[in-house]
Amino acid sequence: MAKDTKAGIRDSFGSKFGFIAATAGSAVGLGNIWRFPYITGENGGGAFLLIYLLFVVVIGLPVMISELAIGRSTQRNPFGAFRVLKPRSKWFLVGIMGIAAAFMINAFYSVVAGWTLEYLVKSIANQFQGKTPAEISALFDGFQQNNWRPLFWTVLFIVISAGVVLSGVEKGIEKYTKILMPLLLIIILVLCIRSLTLPGSFEGVRFLFHPDFSKIGPSAILIALGQAFFSLSIGMGTLITYGSYMKRSDNLGSSAASVVFSDTLIAVLAGIAIFPAVFSFGISPDSGPNLVFLTLPNIFAQMGGGYFFSLLFFFLLAIAALTSTISILEVVVAYFSEELKMSRKKATLLASAGIAVLGILCSLSLYKMPQISIGKNSLFSLLEYTSSTILLPLGGFFIVLFVAWLFGGTKLKAELSSEGKYRVRYLGVYRFIIRFLAPLAIAAVFLNGLGILKF
Ligand code: TRP
Repeated sequence: MAKDTKAGIRDSFGSKFGFIAATAGSAVGLGNIWRFPYITGENGGGAFLLIYLLFVVVIGLPVMISELAIGRSTQRNPFGAFRVLKPRSKWFLVGIMGIAAAFMINAFYSVVAGWTLEYLVKSIANQFQGKTPAEISALFDGFQQNNWRPLFWTVLFIVISAGVVLSGVEKGIEKYTKILMPLLLIIILVLCIRSLTLPGSFEGVRFLFHPDFSKIGPSAILIALGQAFFSLSIGMGTLITYGSYMKRSDNLGSSAASVVFSDTLIAVLAGIAIFPAVFSFGISPDSGPNLVFLTLPNIFAQMGGGYFFSLLFFFLLAIAALTSTISILEVVVAYFSEELKMSRKKATLLASAGIAVLGILCSLSLYKMPQISIGKNSLFSLLEYTSSTILLPLGGFFIVLFVAWLFGGTKLKAELSSEGKYRVRYLGVYRFIIRFLAPLAIAAVFLNGLGILKF
């Protein structure tokens, strides 16, 4: 990601494809490959997938367009953007909520990113080949019971993210993501084929694509909404920053649609790679956050070239996680440096230290020290739930309301059409959604899901 220069001139992405690749780099990550399968498994499969897809298209895409429009028109970080658009108002609080979400997400996200590093090392050491599902499950437990390994990887991952943001080599990383993310897609396709040809795989296809609405309650609907936001990187201002680096002449709507399409494709393919194998190997689909780490090594153990594929896969997954965390860290660093006037170095170190402390507690709370919890929930699931399921939809709610009612219709049309360069055929539908449908739907799902109102 480019940064503000001293003169205040902002770099921008070199091409439309560059923008899409970078934004997809933020969107595609553990949310697609780790979180999507695990929460779909916990919430009964097909019906959850359907509701998720509906939210992605009807609410996610319009929120993404709104965030990008705010960012590109103001050329600011999320706080600066609201301050420029509505000086002396309380709207900057949406930005503050985003900062809180960014801290929480980066903490639990880094824990799981740490697991991918451990699994990369396990792949290199050839620890999956010839193992039974029970032995592979024991590998995960052994790792989690180790006193320092999970913590070491979590901290290492946070240090790497900080290093990237500090040295400003994000631009370089973007260059590689253009090659690496399509490569990840290819490996997932290979995994889909292997998974679908395992004995008993059809049960998994049925689980993922046969909707059974009796398994869906109000809280599952809210979780689906939160997952749509989480996977698309929306609701906390990340894409305001990315919008500010987008070229004025690029078609904002079609770029957003490409990002939404790629992100959703990868999530669904990850589901197709995971669930047939889950059933084939007799793993419980509601295993929780470890689901993918129990399932994938079994697929690798049972495929030609499994050693090579597992190595490449966990490497690419770690990179995908890195391009996501740096987009989150960037929001915090932009706030600390541009609004609180810290140096970028100090801002990055301070933010990363906070994330590391929270991440360590998060990691411990999951297996080693379950007493780090509030009520029945570990700190890990508490941060995950509060950020993804509460703060992101809430942020999205305010963002669409802002763009719908305060941004100004003429300005919005000019922004979406790049000053008349493109026809905005979707404008009518988009306006209706951001004025009425999205805010009402988010509010209804939210209040219903939390049990505040019953529909
Ligand atoms: N979307 C990323 C994923 O699926 C995670 C992520 C990156 C994110 N930036 C974000 C989530 C901003 C919410 C908000 O892995």
